[in-house]
Amino acid sequence: MITKEKVNIKPGKLFIDGKWVDSVSGKTFNTINPATEEVLTMVAEGDREDIDHAVKAARKAFEEGPWRKTDARDRGKILLKIMDLIEKNKEELAWLETLDNGKPISETTTADIPLVLDCLLYYAGWADKIHGETIPVRGEFLNYTIREPVGVVGQIIPWNFPLLMAVWKIAPAIACGNTMVLKPAEQTPLSALRLGEFSQEAGLPDGVLNIVTGYGPTAGAALAEHMDVDKIAFTGEYITGRLIMQAASKNLKRVSLELGGKSPNIVFADSDIDSAVNGAMTGIFFNQGEVCCAGSRLFLEKSIHDEFVDKLSDKASSLRVGNPEDAGTQMGAQISKEQFDKILGYIDSGKQEGAKLVTGGERCGNKGYFIKPTVFDEVNNNMKIAREEIFGPVVSAITFDDVDDMVRKSNFSIYGLAAAVWTKDIKKAHKLARELKAGTIWINTYNTFDAASPFGGFKQSGFGRELGIHTLELYTQVKSVWINLGN
Ligand code: NAI
Ligand code: MG
Repeated sequence: MITKEKVNIKPGKLFIDGKWVDSVSGKTFNTINPATEEVLTMVAEGDREDIDHAVKAARKAFEEGPWRKTDARDRGKILLKIMDLIEKNKEELAWLETLDNGKPISETTTADIPLVLDCLLYYAGWADKIHGETIPVRGEFLNYTIREPVGVVGQIIPWNFPLLMAVWKIAPAIACGNTMVLKPAEQTPLSALRLGEFSQEAGLPDGVLNIVTGYGPTAGAALAEHMDVDKIAFTGEYITGRLIMQAASKNLKRVSLELGGKSPNIVFADSDIDSAVNGAMTGIFFNQGEVCCAGSRLFLEKSIHDEFVDKLSDKASSLRVGNPEDAGTQMGAQISKEQFDKILGYIDSGKQEGAKLVTGGERCGNKGYFIKPTVFDEVNNNMKIAREEIFGPVVSAITFDDVDDMVRKSNFSIYGLAAAVWTKDIKKAHKLARELKAGTIWINTYNTFDAASPFGGFKQSGFGRELGIHTLELYTQVKSVWINLGN
């Protein structure tokens, strides 16, 4: 078993064209451990020029490199080799992620890393199964289609699941034969850089994957605007999503966006209450609430409301919050001072707007960005805490007794990423699965994922689906070929 002390935390460089380089400006920035507020290491601060170098390398690798001629099955093999390297180094990676992000080691070990491995395995399998079709057109012609890679892809990812988000982006892009420039979140650059090393060791040709660490408004914006990038894939805040779309319009690059949510978690009186309570716990406190599909609006049917809130607040107040390095810790630190302050700000706003604070609502300890699991009751769907994405361990309970009114309220949001329903009545469950406006519907479960099942949003939660077969659409384009068989 590898221990924290064995994790190799070294200063990070940019990974461009298969080489590890400093930024053009020579600037660096620190990445911190949010549980201790201490600096872990420094990382190169990429900016516009570095992005330009990375895009040029990706372009060259796409047009001229061996990548073009690499057999599809061998692209899959490279993904399998990356998977093997991650598997071999999984303890180190779990530690790296815990130290850089503040999430518990139990979680990086049992959730992040296994999901990463599955995603690589899944897309490795797709690499040689992406093909066109022969189409029965009118006349003496042979018409067929080819599914080609889109080209140079820019990928901008957030800090909540750093390695997983990197792999959600690069695995399908590699399977489809693209080249890419990945910009990790400035808060959590370390696991992506390690992934760069593994990709090289696995035999991914130089320039296919380039990684530029840096800030959003500089490096990120330069990537989104770049005239020689064919597609941009983004996960993050919806406001940033708008900026990405605007920037992408400069050369009409393709865009896919996975943005935030304010997902309703709906509990009926005819559900198994104890499993629904557990589901509500996972829904909001998993990953410190830093989950785009968190069940942050908890709709409770009136007759079970009191029992439910009692059970939930008991569990929430006994959740083990603290040192992410302890095996028994269930909730770690929030990512940054900025997010910590933002969450506490929302808690204040909830109190001011008249919601009832049942448990939590304050900092936990006096070092590190820990916040107590927080339950608000008597929330009205129009309050700020019910409308805006908090991205922290704060749940808002809303009571209902009229189902139609509840559905209307559930759907009354700019977001539509996920929704969950707890009931034993299958008719009701399927009916609501149709009526709720969200890209994922969970029935009697929450935060369930699989590399094979599509994930993405309705409304301002974004567009394009990641995971599953659907991502292949994002990373390929169709070419129609006509052959005259007549005179
Ligand atoms: P953000 O959207 O600003 O950052 C996500 C990524 O976008 C990072 O890599 C960042 O460097 C980059 N970025 C930022 N501004 C950019 C720009 N102008 N052009 C190109 N790239 C840019 O999210 P942030 O500020 O870290 O978190 C703020 C809020 O966003 C959170 O409180 C949460 O509500 C939401 N969020 C949602 C996520 C999701 O998974 N849907 C993930 C992270 C944050
Ligand atoms: Mg931001």
